Amino acid sequence: MGEKYREKAVIVSQEQIAAQVFSLVLKTEKIAAAAKCGQFISLYSKDKSRLLPRPISICRADAAAGTIRLVYRIAGAGTKEFSQLEAGDEIDVLGPLGNGFPVERAAGKKVLAVAGGIGIPPMLELTAALKEEGKCAQLDAVLGYRDKETFLKEDLEAYARVRIATEDGSVGSRGNVIDAIRENGLQPDVIYACGPTPMLRALSGYAKEHGIECWLSLEEKMACGIGACLACVCRSGEVDEHSKVKNKRICAEGPVFLSTEVIL
Ligand code: FES
Repeated sequence: MGEKYREKAVIVSQEQIAAQVFSLVLKTEKIAAAAKCGQFISLYSKDKSRLLPRPISICRADAAAGTIRLVYRIAGAGTKEFSQLEAGDEIDVLGPLGNGFPVERAAGKKVLAVAGGIGIPPMLELTAALKEEGKCAQLDAVLGYRDKETFLKEDLEAYARVRIATEDGSVGSRGNVIDAIRENGLQPDVIYACGPTPMLRALSGYAKEHGIECWLSLEEKMACGIGACLACVCRSGEVDEHSKVKNKRICAEGPVFLSTEVIL
């Protein structure tokens, strides 16, 4: 893991892009320059009764502009407070955090990015990195939404061939992301994924069955994001050298793991 920075970031802009989903652009030079795809930041609330920061994945980092973009869903008092920030306001940020996606695994391969719901935002930085430095042979994406509010779809289409699955069948394939993978006959060599745990569990099984290398970002399970609360512990197949138990802290050792390393 590289350097991390605590910065006072200035809000450049904020807009609502779907029900309860917001897109926030922050001026934060050092973090923007250091960030890589699949990493996250922690945002600090101004309300001192909420001491733990909220981890939010990096949707896009622009080193030249010194900005990062976060796309998040309101899930409690902390994210509700962030949704009220306006251009010119300030907020404390720590990052970049976490290990990120290993894009070098994509070289010369057929790659599939899979995400569901609020796991979709980090796919934008991932597909951009795969396109720009990953040197993959083919890049597809399958995105799972509840309904026709397909936020970030157009952004992702700049980098990947995008297929959609919706629970209500209003756009793309009806069903989940695995249904869409099957329906579109996709046969990737490597999968990178982020989304709800049941989706990741199903993908992990699919990858095992088809012998596909599969990288999962388990960020959904994070709480404090800084190693303080232990809410993010997941079971791992291998015994940790120090603790002698089969556990990993997602915020510290992850959030990205090889699917065969973790038990979901
Ligand atoms: Fe709190 Fe990992 S999210 S310890």
